[in-house]
Amino acid sequence: MNTKNTYELLHQKLDRRFASIADLEKAAKKRMPKFAFDYLHGGIGRETALDRNRAALDAICLRPQHITKGFEPQLQTELFGQTYAAPFGIAPLGLSGVIWPDAATLLARTAHKANIPFVLSTVATTSLEDIANTAPQNAWFQLYMPNDDTVNRSLIKRAITAGYKVLVVTVDVPSLGRRERDIRNGLSVPPKISLKNVIEAALHPSWSLQTLRNGMPDFANLSPYVPKDADMRTAAGYISSLARGHVGIERLKQARDLWPGTLIVKGIINQQDAKAAKDIGCDGIIVSNHGGRQLDAVPSTAQSIAEIRKTVGKKFPLLIDSGVRSGLDIARLLASDADFVFLGRGFAYGVAALGQRGTDHANYILTQELKNTMSQLGCPTPNLLARTLV
Ligand SMILES: Cc1cc2nc3c(=O)[nH]c(=O)nc-3n(C[C@H](O)[C@H](O)[C@H](O)COP(=O)(O)O)c2cc1C
Repeated sequence: MNTKNTYELLHQKLDRRFASIADLEKAAKKRMPKFAFDYLHGGIGRETALDRNRAALDAICLRPQHITKGFEPQLQTELFGQTYAAPFGIAPLGLSGVIWPDAATLLARTAHKANIPFVLSTVATTSLEDIANTAPQNAWFQLYMPNDDTVNRSLIKRAITAGYKVLVVTVDVPSLGRRERDIRNGLSVPPKISLKNVIEAALHPSWSLQTLRNGMPDFANLSPYVPKDADMRTAAGYISSLARGHVGIERLKQARDLWPGTLIVKGIINQQDAKAAKDIGCDGIIVSNHGGRQLDAVPSTAQSIAEIRKTVGKKFPLLIDSGVRSGLDIARLLASDADFVFLGRGFAYGVAALGQRGTDHANYILTQELKNTMSQLGCPTPNLLARTLV
């Protein structure tokens, strides 16, 4: 039996238990200690931004055209000079090893096999050099611009040396989000080892045993800069102070000057910021509200994309994320004039539910759902989805 058939059979079988990302989410919740699930799943404040992201996606209607020639939907999408297998990718996730041991490697492997982009976070727990080896061609690097210039230049240089072609500068974390679930759970750097968290870890043996096997997660990209002889608390304080503060226009220009490849600004939700990013010469932006994790009153990305598109013009690459949980959601955002869609939690639920098979299966679900949606809509290719928007 050939590899394609084996892949199809495996995922058709998994489909009977996990037919949607929501099914993977349920399984992830069971397998993860509460503090880890809350960190992944939660939003900020009363979590109304999370609900708003969902409601705005649900409100987008697409009108099918049924009388059309038969076709097999094609998902291939060209972005920044590279052809990807689908118009979606995996968003950056910090503290990836808390979500699931070695999650970044598993996500990067899926991206490499499936030929979709995977964005590695500055504050992931796997190093940018390791991920460049795991997913050459498919890994992008996300930078929280360190406010120490030497560290900033060094990280950018390391990313160039490791072969990254796309740098994503995130601008929507001027200060750490005050996430109540994490505060209550004592999820902090350094971690607070409370009795409650120890019991939670003990009750979730797969997570705990694999964490023991992989070693305690650390900030693999930033730890080289921690002053020698620093104890854990000083080291943690240093790392969290590195990536704080607003990214002003001068710092963005500096990133543009230092980065020879494709530069994307992530975390844009208003027209002024979109214009500023375009004016400094970035190659694209990711419209994002950080998955509702930073400001509870923020508008949804689905509500914001039309005015941002108006500001940057037809041709400028507009990528988007926040709240996407299905192939239908991906189609909705592409129809709303986005060029490419990212998912954070959607893929992470897959890792936590089933490890490598789970991330692969998340990709399978999204691919099948998107193809099915396009078939229903009478759209052979993603770039035709815009005509279906009601
Ligand atoms: C657990 C978690 C950690 C995240 N860490 C980062 C990060 O380190 N850098 C970043 O730019 N965005 C980060 N984000 C935001 C995601 O990249 C993305 O914008 C968001 O998850 C999209 O929403 P979704 O999860 O509903 O798909 C994180 C999101 C989650 C859920």
